[in-house]
Parts: sequence; C-alpha cells; structure tokens
Amino acid sequence: MTQVDRYAVMGNPIAHSKSPQIHRLFAQQTGQSLSYQAILVEKHRFAEAVAEFLTAGGKGLNVTVPFKQEAWQIADQLSARAQRAGAVNTLMLREPGSLFGDNTDGVGLVRDLTANLAVELSGKRLLLLGAGGAARGVLGPLLEQQPTHLVIANRTAERAEQLSDLFSDIGALTGCGFAALGGEAFDVVINATAAGLRGEVPDLPEGIIGPQTCCYDMMYGSAPTAFMRYAQQRGARRAFDGLGMLVEQAAESFRLWRGVNPATGPVIDFLRRH
Ligand code: ATR
Repeated sequence: MTQVDRYAVMGNPIAHSKSPQIHRLFAQQTGQSLSYQAILVEKHRFAEAVAEFLTAGGKGLNVTVPFKQEAWQIADQLSARAQRAGAVNTLMLREPGSLFGDNTDGVGLVRDLTANLAVELSGKRLLLLGAGGAARGVLGPLLEQQPTHLVIANRTAERAEQLSDLFSDIGALTGCGFAALGGEAFDVVINATAAGLRGEVPDLPEGIIGPQTCCYDMMYGSAPTAFMRYAQQRGARRAFDGLGMLVEQAAESFRLWRGVNPATGPVIDFLRRH
C-alpha cells in the first residue's frame, strides 16, 4: 500500500491553527496527494516530536510559536533567509537524515503587501514595530525590497538597536524606542509586536501615521484588529490584517515541499468567508 506524503504543523497552542485547512485547500487545488495535520507539542519535547514524525515517514513540517528558534537549531542546513532570521517556520527532509530549514514568513509578508494589496515598499519609508522573533523573521525580505529607509521601533529601545545592528549590512535601517520617532509620517507601518494579544497597541507619538500611510498588522482575527482600528482612528490611508501573510507563507512552504505553485487568492477569499 502506498501511503500519502505526510506533513504537519507543530506548535503550542495549535488548536486554532488555520494551516491544516490552508494546505488541504492547496493540495485540492493543485491535485497533490498529501495529508496535513496539526500536532500539539509539549514545550520541552519539540526535537523529540520532530524525530518521531520523521521516523513515521513525515516529509515536512511547519513550525509555529514557541518552537521557531528551536527548529532553527535542529535544522542540518538552513536557507540564507532562515540563517538571518534566526528562526525556522518550514522544515523539509531533503535527503535521508538531513533536515533543511527555511523561513517563509518574510517573503509571505512581502508578497501579501506587494502582490495582493498593491502596497509599494521599494523607495518608501518603512516603520517596523517590535523587535522580537516576529520582527526579526521578516526584516531580511523587507530590506531586499530596498525601502529608502527602514526604522525598527520597539518599547524596549535597546532591542530595536541590537536588531538594527544585526541587519545593517543589507540595508539602510535604524533602531529606536517609540518616543524617539518623530517628524514625517511613514509610508508603511508594520506591526510585529505581541501587543495585540492583549488587545493593546504600541504607544506611538502623533504624526507617525498620516493620510498617506498604509498600516499592516501581522496578526489577524475575525474582526479588525486593535492595531487596524488604531490606524484608522489616526487617519491611515489603508489598514490590513495578516491573514494574507499567513496564506502566502504557507504557499511558499507548499512550493518548497511539492514544487508546485498554489493560487493564494481563492484561499484568502475562502478564509475571509469562513
Ligand atoms: P514575538 O516572537 O511574537 O516577536 P517576543 O520575542 O516575545 O515575541 O517579542 C514580543 C514583541 O512585542 C517585543 O517587541 C515586545 O516589546 P519589548 O521588547 O519591549 O518587550 C512587543 N510588545 C509586547 N507587548 C507590547 C505592548 N503592550 N506594547 C508594545 N510592544 C509590545
């Protein structure tokens, strides 16, 4: 009996992950025969869980909170963008015993902004809010778009400064605290903080968001997020949530695993309606 190729997403918590649904829709659409499940992994058991999955014939994994850094550590080879990001969201068994790690979050964000939402990044002034794993994961692909300048602003200024030092060889960027932001409004503001988990928003000075500013929240929900509402109150031109990024990062993983290109538009539309 031939078994279908097995894939999964590992995280904790994982119950509300949309990844199984997204990958099943991709498989249906492209005629690929595969299975994809969500696996809840205990916090100290990630490496073991990966080994078990691969022993049982698993071909590839998505990795989410809180295991992306650990996935980076256990990968035998890393893509250049994963190496930079310090985090892996996609694992793939390339040759027997050799686990390849990639990070598709940044390219997912950039594709959603530029291809789906028609938000230009090149030649624009970008503000990235947050300096944790989520921010670090997307910095490389954002800088590759060649914004005129990218500012990382974080509640704890030192973390933003450190992160900016880490990427200073690939683009024009600076790091600072929120209070040090000032002057002209930015063209694009991306929220990569965890503030939204508590319904909070980063405490930004006036004037950062203006009538030309497009705001993007890497989080999503069934209703507009706290950051989207805040952006709208401050007169932003447009405000988006991160659902498209989620689908785009999944598509990039799918492409890596299966070598085929799923159409993301119909999947984003489907998730918006359900
Ligand atoms: P993640 O992997 O999601 O980025 P993290 O590494 O814990 O998680 O980082 C969380 C980020 O959200 C940090 O930038 C954090 O700011 P600090 O470095 O100052 O802690 C930011 N954050 C969390 N809650 C916030 C809030 N209420 N307002 C502003 N920033 C917040």
